[in-house]
Amino acid sequence: MKGNCTVILAAGDGVRMKSSKPKVLAEVLFKPMIDWVIDCALDCGFDESDICVVTGHGRELLNGHLPSGVQTVVQEERLGTGHAVMRAQPFIEANSYSNVLVLNGDSPMVDGETLKLAFEYHMRSGNAATVISANVENPTGYGRIKRNSDGIFEKIVEEKDADENEKNITEVNSGAYWFGCRALLVALDKLKTDAKYRLNAAKEYYLTDAVEILKSMGQRAATFNSKNSDAVLGANDRLQLMRLNEKARMRVLEAHMKNGVSVPFADGVIIGPDVVIGADTEILPGTTIKGKTVIGRGCVVGSNSCIESCVIGDEAVITSSHCSEAEISAGAAVGPFARIRPGTKIDSGARIGNFVEVKNSSIGEGTKISHLSYIGDSDIGTGVNIGSGCATVNYSGKEKFRTVIEDGAFIGCDTSLVAPVKVGENAYTAAGSTITEDVPANSLAVARERQVNKKDWVKSKKPYRK
Ligand code: UD1
Ligand code: CA
Repeated sequence: MKGNCTVILAAGDGVRMKSSKPKVLAEVLFKPMIDWVIDCALDCGFDESDICVVTGHGRELLNGHLPSGVQTVVQEERLGTGHAVMRAQPFIEANSYSNVLVLNGDSPMVDGETLKLAFEYHMRSGNAATVISANVENPTGYGRIKRNSDGIFEKIVEEKDADENEKNITEVNSGAYWFGCRALLVALDKLKTDAKYRLNAAKEYYLTDAVEILKSMGQRAATFNSKNSDAVLGANDRLQLMRLNEKARMRVLEAHMKNGVSVPFADGVIIGPDVVIGADTEILPGTTIKGKTVIGRGCVVGSNSCIESCVIGDEAVITSSHCSEAEISAGAAVGPFARIRPGTKIDSGARIGNFVEVKNSSIGEGTKISHLSYIGDSDIGTGVNIGSGCATVNYSGKEKFRTVIEDGAFIGCDTSLVAPVKVGENAYTAAGSTITEDVPANSLAVARERQVNKKDWVKSKKPYRK
């Protein structure tokens, strides 16, 4: 897409969303709508530096969110989509771009493929404007594509301005367009000055009118009908957002199933758009997978698991557990009811059992932490066995310290390991010990009171019984 650019309209407020955040930051499948749109432009072949986002409402929040290479311009007053594009005029001119792709920041379902096909058509036909349209069941709220009796595209009629006949038109404007830059700038100028278009009934400059202006100037403007009818779907309010989520959810699930991922029951299975899953992996109900998670082949994930930004190897099993920003290697088993927190790396064949929390730790190959333990800031070797109810005491109230447990060590039930501390290779700790000093390799550490049995104490005292 060298020599061309994208302008993304994202200055609108969230009034219909009833949100303090800019609308384009509302999330579809855990991903802000603006990110979908930017990814789509990147998919279409644009570099970040050739993308300009028009910001306005809540722009501090938005600026903090956008990728660093993307340009921004500010639209101080919200005077409509045409006015928003006018703000990007210096960006378009400074770089002498030939064609500009205009995208709505609140229409996340457009796809790079459609945009590329529309561009080919735009160039082949020598169009000044190509409007990407689609046919939808319910056109309410969208601009309608009006054609003459010969089926030739005439103009876009907004919902507000549409008469009863026009309201019945089901071909609608997606809000994505290709324009020749020079033609667009001339049309925007007319939009500003021509009395017919100047701040129309809605007190807005409509970008859609620029298309009609170009036609009236004898330039070629046509529509490109998208095969993907979802491409037009936008979200102005939370009900539409929910519907978009549902559409996007099924679209993502279907794509995974086509790739050999098994989702036997889709109930409550929500997978983010950037998740990669290998064939023969099974995702069970109530499971949420988000971020840039990568899951290998032949795994079982769920039911009721939450996975965020994890890398999971082949044939791992994650049952009813929460895992975030962690690496779980092939054949490892996690759960049920485990919590794996950021910075954790679990090697192959390791087992993390029920009610175990692991944070910022490495767990060696084949190591077992089967029940009710907390492991934080620790480096645990291979083949280690950690008994039930153990805790690393990693926090002094001021600082965090690491615990090291070397290969083959055996940590008895209910051991507290007060960090910084090291348990050497093949060493044991006795159950109930509070380990404050390093344990040498092959040793047994007993750090508890010796048991005293007081003979016939009960008979003589009968403390609580009659
Ligand atoms: C717009 C189109 C409509 C199309 C629909 C597709 C116009 C006049 N109408 O309607 O034909 O079917 O999109 O979704 O263009 N924005 C700004 N500054 C503004 C106003 C809007 O940046 O002053 C941004 C918004 O943040 C949003 C996008 O432009 O991302 C579209 O604006 P919105 O008000 O949602 O337009 P629609 O009514 O949906
Ligand atoms: Ca919209």
